[in-house]
Amino acid sequence: MSNINLAIFASGSGSNAENIFNYFSENKVVHTQTLLCNNPNALVLKRLEGKIPNKILFNKEELNNSEKIDLILERFKIDYIILAGFLLKIPDRLIEKYKGKIINIHPALLPAYGGKGMYGMNVHNAVIDAGENKSGITIHLVDELYDNGKVLFQAECAIEAGDTSEILAQKIHLLEQEHFPRIIEEYIMGS
Ligand code: GRF
Repeated sequence: MSNINLAIFASGSGSNAENIFNYFSENKVVHTQTLLCNNPNALVLKRLEGKIPNKILFNKEELNNSEKIDLILERFKIDYIILAGFLLKIPDRLIEKYKGKIINIHPALLPAYGGKGMYGMNVHNAVIDAGENKSGITIHLVDELYDNGKVLFQAECAIEAGDTSEILAQKIHLLEQEHFPRIIEEYIMGS
């Protein structure tokens, strides 16, 4: 099988980005050598310091209105884009170019608690405030709308009485660590 190159897009802490990088580090077919980040202060840059060879910083304007990202994706022969805590909307032209090849993780059970503004702790706060007794993760393909593409996988966790948003965030984090890289692998190997 020929090489498959993933680009990881991340904006923040990067625990998922690091986990994906580690998971595929010995893989002979799937390569994670390219990290794209829109936040110069993001912890993900430190986490993957000296590990990931291609680290590219960009801003929203460059993503939306220039060829910078497109050229980088071409240069590194990127086959799939993985959104691992990436907070900007992917422009339609990239969605068109990478149809069925952009995978996102959302920290709730979509279609509930998705859409614009629903990211990070906003999601967990909303779930706790609504008194839900479960939440979970959704791994899905990305289309033109926020949190709307085909669902590839969901996993649930229970919310116990007294759980705070922070406790829920930890439970979600464990689910993400357990499932995200494996689901990426299954999807791209089956495509
Ligand atoms: C994760 O909860 C992910 O589901 C969401 O943003 C968070 C990113 O965390 N999209 P990290 O940056 O991977 O640590």
